[in-house]
Amino acid sequence: MTTNNGQQRIGIFDSGVGGLTVLRELYRQLPNESILYFGDTARLPYGSRTKQEILQFVREILRWMVQQDIKMAIMACNTSSALALETVRSEFNLPILGVILPGARAAVQHGQRIGVIATPATAASNAYRRAISEIDTTAQVWQVGCPEFVPLIEQNRLHDPYTTEVAREYLTPLMQEGIDTLVYGCTHYPHLAPVLRAILPSEVKLVDPAVHVVAAAAQELDLLGLLNTQPPLPTRFCVSGCPQQFAQLSVQWLGCTPMVEKVYLPTSPHSPVLLEQVD
Ligand code: DGL
Repeated sequence: MTTNNGQQRIGIFDSGVGGLTVLRELYRQLPNESILYFGDTARLPYGSRTKQEILQFVREILRWMVQQDIKMAIMACNTSSALALETVRSEFNLPILGVILPGARAAVQHGQRIGVIATPATAASNAYRRAISEIDTTAQVWQVGCPEFVPLIEQNRLHDPYTTEVAREYLTPLMQEGIDTLVYGCTHYPHLAPVLRAILPSEVKLVDPAVHVVAAAAQELDLLGLLNTQPPLPTRFCVSGCPQQFAQLSVQWLGCTPMVEKVYLPTSPHSPVLLEQVD
């Protein structure tokens, strides 16, 4: 691994603007860190992809990020964390963090009847149920796949009454189970917080795994002696799709129009190529 010169970035990625909810936490908890953000907008939504596709995309992204000399990668994407984290961790020689374990740990601290809203791929993977029951065998978990949310958010239809209607449909079975905690099992969903909060009973606690993955990243960087002490470089935003579209959509969460680059990822050959083998 390259030695930290105080300028190495943390690489974070998602299919689109969902990772901005993790970026927001990075700015809040680790204000000295420089960030490389990648949104795979040409290939979203990830939530209806197969495990094989997600693995290929994640390998391509990580290979490119390593070329950009990142010091740590955060999968700001539950679908990638559920389907690819375990595999790529043993293929790349750098710390890689996912959102599911930190989210599961936080959920059991809040309640015992836990609802998880997620992409269809994450819900079907059972990743949250498994992670939660490994920590607390008494907690009950209900997972709902929400295929319409990511396209609605990426189309900036946050205030469309149709979005509220869809949200009500997804949340109703969870409310009927009497959940006390709801986990955002997709990094896009905190962008819907006002819509979800208006539907849910006020006693239901909302858990955003972004808060907890960034806390875990801070701990790990500290442990590895990789925390930045210098003022950060401006965040570098890169996408695989249309940069203008990403910039226009992001401005409402970033508070300014970001400069966005289009990048072409090195494509994977059919059999996975390993960048650096772990010793
Ligand atoms: N935001 C990502 C997640 O947390 C991906 C959503 C998607 O592209 O379907 O799963």
